[in-house]
Amino acid sequence: MFQIMVSYGALAVTMVVVVVTVQWLGCNFAEGYPEEDLVVRLPGQPKVLFRQYAGYVEVDTKTGRSLFYYFVEAATQPETKPLTLWLNGGVDVCMTYERKFYFNLPEVQHALHANRTRLPYEWSMCTSRVNYRGIDSNISMLPLLKRIIQNKTPVWIFSGDQDSIIPFLGTRTIIRELAHDLNFSTTLPYRHWYHRDQVAGWVTEYGKLLTFATVRGAAHMVPYGQPARALHMFSCFVRGRRLPNNTHYPDDG
Ligand SMILES: *[C@@H]1O[C@H](CO)[C@@H](O)[C@H](O)[C@H]1NC(C)=O
Ligand SMILES: *[C@@H]1O[C@H](CO)[C@@H](O)[C@H](O)[C@H]1NC(C)=O
Ligand SMILES: *[C@@H]1O[C@H](CO)[C@@H](O)[C@H](O)[C@H]1NC(C)=O
Ligand SMILES: *[C@@H]1O[C@H](CO)[C@@H](O)[C@H](O)[C@H]1NC(C)=O
Repeated sequence: MFQIMVSYGALAVTMVVVVVTVQWLGCNFAEGYPEEDLVVRLPGQPKVLFRQYAGYVEVDTKTGRSLFYYFVEAATQPETKPLTLWLNGGVDVCMTYERKFYFNLPEVQHALHANRTRLPYEWSMCTSRVNYRGIDSNISMLPLLKRIIQNKTPVWIFSGDQDSIIPFLGTRTIIRELAHDLNFSTTLPYRHWYHRDQVAGWVTEYGKLLTFATVRGAAHMVPYGQPARALHMFSCFVRGRRLPNNTHYPDDG
């Protein structure tokens, strides 16, 4: 698969992870690449069989704002695989202190083409230096999600059921409101999903395009708290499958 993770680093919205798949049929995506963003060697990373890119996407040239991105290609035939855009969070799963240490290493920043302007302060996970105003955290993502879904692109939103920062009940409620707004019917009533003979969470689906899932036993950072369940969920998503409704699922990996 293609996978793009865009991490906004905003305080209030980091727990809701939105995953979007786009099929790039017959399009030679690789040719459009910013080759200067190719990550040649990431310090400490074992030898990998896929290509990875990192750099900045300009958002607002006037104010000089850009978003950092990290993009990973599928190991085989990436041009035939769906594109996943991962908003709010993503798969950084290591511990807070190790992460802070690693991403502040000059050779890591160089490899990732990050911090090109040599910022006068350290990288940290939640920074107050990006000029967010309190009110920015109130900006709704729903209109954006609505536009994506109206283009027939499947969207999955998931929450850890032990997330005490953004409890899943609120997210579940606004997703239901979004479904209502889109005039979607419930195509999958709220039910458990399974992984390795256990209930791995709950899931519901609207209009065959909008899915909300919880991951049992995960807190704010789902892939960190429940890596196997998170991976299984992601793998169902990229294969265009629903989460398993029983414990005997063919490739329950
Ligand atoms: C950016 O790089 C400079 C060194 O060139 C370093 O002192 C600073 O901590 C880095 N800042 C961030 C945000 O990565
Ligand atoms: C954000 O919205 C909530 C709920 O409507 C409100 O209580 C809060 O004051 C708002 N925060 C800001 C900074 O506007
Ligand atoms: C919503 O869907 C129903 C039936 O599925 C249809 O009758 C109705 O016209 C739709 N409303 C809007 C606003 O699209
Ligand atoms: C369980 O999932 C399978 C595969 O998606 C589906 O064929 C089956 O109808 C589902 N069973 C129930 C009870 O929902």
